[in-house]
Amino acid sequence: MSRRKIIAGNWKMNLSLTQARQLIADVRDQASDYECEVMIFPSFVYLTDAVNLLKESEVKVGAQNCSEKESGAYTGEVSAAMLSSVGVEYVIIGHSERRELFGETNEVLKEKLKVALRHPLKVVFCCGEPLSIRQANQQEEYVSKQLEESLFALSDEDMLQVVIAYEPVWAIGTGLNATPDQAQQMHAFIRNKLSEKFGKSIAAQTRILYGGSCKPENAASLFDCADVDGGLIGGASLQAKDFISMIQSV
Ligand code: PGA
Repeated sequence: MSRRKIIAGNWKMNLSLTQARQLIADVRDQASDYECEVMIFPSFVYLTDAVNLLKESEVKVGAQNCSEKESGAYTGEVSAAMLSSVGVEYVIIGHSERRELFGETNEVLKEKLKVALRHPLKVVFCCGEPLSIRQANQQEEYVSKQLEESLFALSDEDMLQVVIAYEPVWAIGTGLNATPDQAQQMHAFIRNKLSEKFGKSIAAQTRILYGGSCKPENAASLFDCADVDGGLIGGASLQAKDFISMIQSV
């Protein structure tokens, strides 16, 4: 089964409006003849601009988070329905920074998944273990629990709208990426778990991205692995040249 690879840029809380517009224009105008699906995840406040600037382009726009609530008195929150209404197509759910710094539990993430898919956004669902868990060689048990307690509540139909990103926490923003062997091993494990829960066909269709210190120098060796279907890229997605070079390399 051939899966179309994805190169996705998670901009996190970075860039001014002028810089964001410039980066969007560079990606739109300079990346050409690529085979992968390209996505960018700017801050909420730049999403409308991004959607407008990318109207005639293949580049997809996503948000970095959404509320688990439908609507109402939740000051400061942004709902899935709002994102959908401005033309956003994807949302990241379960990034380790949201889990760690903002206390998002597997239970909350299960609710976010449901509300996002209902609206209907496509989801990039993140999972991955912290360093202490990797050192204790318990990464498979840890990631299993993240999948079982959030993702496995979905129907088969909803699961087809989800992309998974495996992002070992110890590799995010540290410059220390997982080796291709470590990534492949975990991706194969995740695909096998998907197969047990959702069946072989859905498991074979689901794209599983690697994230954590991806850059042009290591991208090809990671993305060449059989079960690695592209990358969720943080720091290197803020540099047009680096991001485009990764787009062109897959
Ligand atoms: P990084 O971040 O590429 O800067 O390590 C990846 C991510 O957090 O999605």
